[in-house]
Amino acid sequence: MILILDFGSQYTQLIARRVREANVYCEIQPFNFPLAKIRAMAPRGIILSGGPASLYEENAPDIDPALLKFDAPILGICYGMYVVATHLGAKTPPSQRKEYGPATLQIDAPDALFEGLEGQEHRVWMSHGDRVEAIPSTLRSIAHTTNAPCAAVRTVDGRIRGIQFHPEVVHTPCGAQILRNFVHRICGEPGDWTMANFIETKVGEIRERVGARNKVLLGLSGGVDSSVAAALIHRAIGERLKCVFVDTGLLRAGERERMENVFAGHLGIDLTVSDASELFLTRLKDVLDPEQKRRIIGHTFIDVFESEDVVRGAKFLGQGTLYPDVIESVSFKGPSAVIKSHHNVGGLPDRMKLELIEPLRELFKDEVRELGRKLGLPGEIVDREPFPGPGLAVRIVGEVTRDRVELLRRADAIVMEEFATSGFAHNLWQAFAVLLPLKTVGVMGDGRSYESVIAIRAVESQDGMTADWARLDTGFLARVSSRITNEIRGVNRVVYDITSKPPATIEWE
Ligand code: XMP
Repeated sequence: MILILDFGSQYTQLIARRVREANVYCEIQPFNFPLAKIRAMAPRGIILSGGPASLYEENAPDIDPALLKFDAPILGICYGMYVVATHLGAKTPPSQRKEYGPATLQIDAPDALFEGLEGQEHRVWMSHGDRVEAIPSTLRSIAHTTNAPCAAVRTVDGRIRGIQFHPEVVHTPCGAQILRNFVHRICGEPGDWTMANFIETKVGEIRERVGARNKVLLGLSGGVDSSVAAALIHRAIGERLKCVFVDTGLLRAGERERMENVFAGHLGIDLTVSDASELFLTRLKDVLDPEQKRRIIGHTFIDVFESEDVVRGAKFLGQGTLYPDVIESVSFKGPSAVIKSHHNVGGLPDRMKLELIEPLRELFKDEVRELGRKLGLPGEIVDREPFPGPGLAVRIVGEVTRDRVELLRRADAIVMEEFATSGFAHNLWQAFAVLLPLKTVGVMGDGRSYESVIAIRAVESQDGMTADWARLDTGFLARVSSRITNEIRGVNRVVYDITSKPPATIEWE
């Protein structure tokens, strides 16, 4: 494996993506990860990421100098380069000109890092304030740019290298090859890490951990992550995986049937469907505050889950935790403000004294989708758009009643159908309907109507953190609007949400 030490760059996860794309397994740990643990991991190579700090700041993040004695190749990227170069005796004064954006890299000496690159000049992406200038005799400069005399350096023995530019971003077209060269040629990784052997390794690990008799419980949400975790654990232990799907009464149209068909029908998984819609609706009566809705739904979910017979006697709880969730907790990023409390089964393991099995902890979302496909899950599960845990409740502004849920579900089904048939869905992050807590006047036939308003939300986004409203075709919007007002009694107006995130969020509550 390759170890990536994180100095807090916004691109660190991309480094890991590129390394995995070279079929090499890698992990990200904070920059100050203890040396003893690094030794125990025995990585074949270490990459030091970039970071937002300057070496000239007080308490600038730094490595234990003994790391440089470690018997594996090291590659420092941007800030990671200054750190290693400084330890090796280079001078890295703050640059007169900060450099953000494209630059032309001029390769000055052949190096394994540059193998397979055509020509000496390459477009690279810079983002730095400091730069390496005077280097000691143990270091060689192997490339420069107009603004950086040492845009790439390596020690004379070739074990330690540093590059000032970012090879992990798409704006450095030769970057993927450079990282491949580092992990394959320089570190000697064979590049045989694939989904097929991931499945084999994980299945073995799960079997060993769970033992021959224990049960694993898993709460299916309908989302991609818990579905893929279930399919993988099922491959390992068969009917000793017990899945519970809670029908909150707040699901999209056809959701429960879809889950039953795929999990109980197609995969033959032991699935308990818990119909708790009455309980959820009763507890949500008269509740208007979005955070209170979220809390009530979270607690009710745990109560329902716990009350199922099948959960008794289980020792393990399976969860679809992904790598980005893990990184968030190990990195030294500050805690971000709680905008919305997310609903998941986080409270369960402590309360029920369950041990967690999280077989997707090392994977990114797109890898999870690939894994799901390899495990035989259909496209309707692995390619689905995100859906909030609290379900339609956070898309009903105001009180959640059975009638209002039903009305929204029908509007939402029309939106889903229209998107599915129009083929827009591929560029979109999410598209859905929202029911507003107000009535407006309309005219239907010859009469006056006074009925509800549905808002349509459709956004484009990379990760859900920021988003822009989708510039949908007006003919398409017209069709959605007329279907909703014609087919759903009780709605006489449809509006389209044209706000980005920020300042709005994607969901309305
Ligand atoms: P917001 O509304 O915060 O949503 O812009 C960002 C993304 O997260 C989804 N979302 C949730 N997902 N549990 C989830 O699993 C939740 O409680 C939850 N709330 C919002 C939302 O659909 C969007 O994709």
